[in-house]
Amino acid sequence: MQSPPNVAMFSTQAYDKQSFASHALYADIKVTSFDTPLTAKTVSLCEGFNTVCAFVNDKLDADILQQLYASGVRHVAMRCAGYNNVDIDYATKLGMAVSRVPAYSPEAVAEHALALIMTLNRKTHKAYNRVRDGNFDLNGLLGFTLHDKTVGVVGTGHIGAALVRLLSGFGCRILCFDPYPNDELKALGAEYTDLTTLFSTSHIISLHCPLNEESHHLINEQSLASMRDGVMLINTSRGGLIDSRAVINALKTHKLGYLGLDVYEMESELFFRDHSGEIIQDDVFERLATFHNVLITGHQGFFTIEALSQIAEVTLENMIGFNSGFAKPFANQATPASRFLVLPSLADT
Ligand code: NAI
Repeated sequence: MQSPPNVAMFSTQAYDKQSFASHALYADIKVTSFDTPLTAKTVSLCEGFNTVCAFVNDKLDADILQQLYASGVRHVAMRCAGYNNVDIDYATKLGMAVSRVPAYSPEAVAEHALALIMTLNRKTHKAYNRVRDGNFDLNGLLGFTLHDKTVGVVGTGHIGAALVRLLSGFGCRILCFDPYPNDELKALGAEYTDLTTLFSTSHIISLHCPLNEESHHLINEQSLASMRDGVMLINTSRGGLIDSRAVINALKTHKLGYLGLDVYEMESELFFRDHSGEIIQDDVFERLATFHNVLITGHQGFFTIEALSQIAEVTLENMIGFNSGFAKPFANQATPASRFLVLPSLADT
């Protein structure tokens, strides 16, 4: 049994405060919110806390974990599913617990991926502006019928599987690549294949695998060259899956016909903040944003009422669970196994 959770929450937005504070478990936890991200410059703020609550662009490399440990932090509670920004090996070495929210609303992200596909295809964002301007010209708004098109889904975990279920309703042919095929998706008619076939055959490719050493720059000059001309690429997973410069070249040569991004390699410098009064210094991002067939959203795939509520609930349960030695089982999951990436106290039992 550890001392009660005393939490430093980083990258906190008004909606985080609201969703956490509206949950009953919040009353049992002391939370201090910082709107700043966790970085080498801000890690000293953690002095005196035993828990850190972090988000997708907070930095949790070996140096920062070491400093957190020295300050007394014993649990990093990620309020997201992905954990590519945490040095898990180092946390394990330190014996520092790391938890996450494995599947708060896979449908929320899958629906956002579908929204990117539909918007890029039927150009509703342009139609909206045209009609408001009194311009009813259809030239430049031509789309394609999604029915019967081949969609490649890379990674069929929680989110990829939710997208496959949605796409099957559209009558698409669905090709999947994942080291662990899902029989439920096969029963829906999805076909598992190798990555080369998926890349060369699909009209639309949507990325849903985690970012790690193996998947870094999965989309690069070579893989782009193997795709169909005019392919649509969607990334709602992590920015580092795509080599942004290679993608810019592919857009310039028309190899890529459409690009939908909810994530971007260098997003930690930009996303989740208002830069509208500044000059953005990232020339790669600015070049990407100039293409008429590129649609970028600022990491909002998770951003639904239901997902925020689930994130708050599971994160708070993780904090209390860890600090009480899991005296009470979780409300919506029997064991901590899928939530805790590193759990020193249980590993010892
Ligand atoms: P998950 O862990 O349920 O599924 C990931 C799947 O990818 C697994 O089935 C795994 O076997 C597979 N996989 C691993 N390496 C692969 C590779 N090299 N190629 C193909 N498949 C591979 O994860 P979940 O919940 O579906 O999330 C997927 C990603 O979505 C997360 O890693 C996270 O980065 C991102 N995400 C984005 C959000 C947003 O707001 N845009 C919100 C939540 C997650």
